[in-house]
Amino acid sequence: MVAYKSKMVERIRLPSREQREHNLDAAGYNVFNLNSEEVFIDLLTDSGTGAMSDAQWAALIRGDEAYAGSKSFDRLESAVRDVMGFSHIVPTHQGRGAENVLYGSLLSEGDVVLNNTHFDTTRAHVANQGADPVDCPVETAHDPDSEDPFKGNFSIDRARTVVDEVGAEHVPVVVQTITNNSAAGQPVSVDNTRRVREFADEIDATFVIDACRFAENAYFVTQREDEFADPETDIVDVTREQLGYADAIVMSGKKDGLVNVGGFVATDDRTLFERCKQRAILYEGFPTYGGMAGRDVAAMAVGLREAVEEAYVADRVEQVREFGAQLAAADVPVYTPTSGHAVYLDAGEALPHLPDEAFPGQALVCELYREGGVRGVELGSFAFPDTDRPELVRLAVPRRTYHREHFDHVVETAASVLESPEEIPGLEITANPATPELRHFTAELEPLSDSV
Ligand SMILES: Cc1ncc(COP(=O)(O)O)c(C=O)c1O
Repeated sequence: MVAYKSKMVERIRLPSREQREHNLDAAGYNVFNLNSEEVFIDLLTDSGTGAMSDAQWAALIRGDEAYAGSKSFDRLESAVRDVMGFSHIVPTHQGRGAENVLYGSLLSEGDVVLNNTHFDTTRAHVANQGADPVDCPVETAHDPDSEDPFKGNFSIDRARTVVDEVGAEHVPVVVQTITNNSAAGQPVSVDNTRRVREFADEIDATFVIDACRFAENAYFVTQREDEFADPETDIVDVTREQLGYADAIVMSGKKDGLVNVGGFVATDDRTLFERCKQRAILYEGFPTYGGMAGRDVAAMAVGLREAVEEAYVADRVEQVREFGAQLAAADVPVYTPTSGHAVYLDAGEALPHLPDEAFPGQALVCELYREGGVRGVELGSFAFPDTDRPELVRLAVPRRTYHREHFDHVVETAASVLESPEEIPGLEITANPATPELRHFTAELEPLSDSV
């Protein structure tokens, strides 16, 4: 059931087809290079793109900008304690800042890190410490049609195989990403988290949860995990139990913190907290603001509490589910079940004439823009070279931002693009950045003249 009405609006415009053609060419067929005013419906990311509530705007005005000991920090600390259960926090400018602080405090050259699936910035930060990021998704994670309710789970079998190969002494950190963004945003069960805790204990590793979408994950748990099926089960109780198995969490507030910027590390481990604090001073700022303005800290303190309100999170996840169902009804191939933050299109199935080397996902992203000014993102062989993943396009849904008419337009656009899929050309890269892990942000491409 809808849980909001609008109090402030932002004008959007659909550029003409001619302008869209020109913009696409000028952007080097990489939609990260488009200006936002050139985009009609922006589904590039759910990160930092949502609308804040009136309570958050009110908190923002009252933000305390003191360098040390700000009241806004106290409010964030108490929100994290109440909602997530941790007593020590180190604020950072966003999620990747938290990754730098935490993984820089935990890892050394030659280490191996196991994760259900490393998100791209996580992979890059682990690699930046000289460590090796190894993914341990469950078998169903990359099957767009499996109805497994927890395709985001961490495979302990795979993790054991890696530990047997490299030796437990080389695996100091095990991470679980909830929901599993790079595996089509699929949720992780509490039971799986519990078992990862046991596994981490077995190999004497620190257990970290990437908690960006903790509230959406908790909602899925209440919907899909028998143990939590009682309608009286509270999202906060699920959250506290699931996160409570971790030694530390990394958080991007731009997702379930319901803010446009911010993040933090949280832990109950005093020694780890002290190490993170020292590193945060070097890279982020004094530990009571850590790379954020006091006003942003204040808004996140309110956002974390709103994220676990049943009315909010049910409205959020159900909106995404309905969008996915609408696309599927229009014969657009979608990854199922839908996640809590995005609908993933199966570009491999939609454009079978294009081999992976011709980047079918990126080709579909470009056509969605050309046809309807819709911006999504490729998460296939362009974003993740040399990995065996399905060719997906993510249409991420900003929180509390778009309504039914917006989604109707996206569905019409996608259906229209796929009326003649064989006419869509593949792409080749013409300019590649130096950091291959993050190439999809800045690489430039052009259509392959002989691909159709
Ligand atoms: C699972 C996951 N971890 C980490 C990050 C990094 O967060 P940020 O973009 O705030 O740096 C993201 C961002 O999308 C994410 O989805």
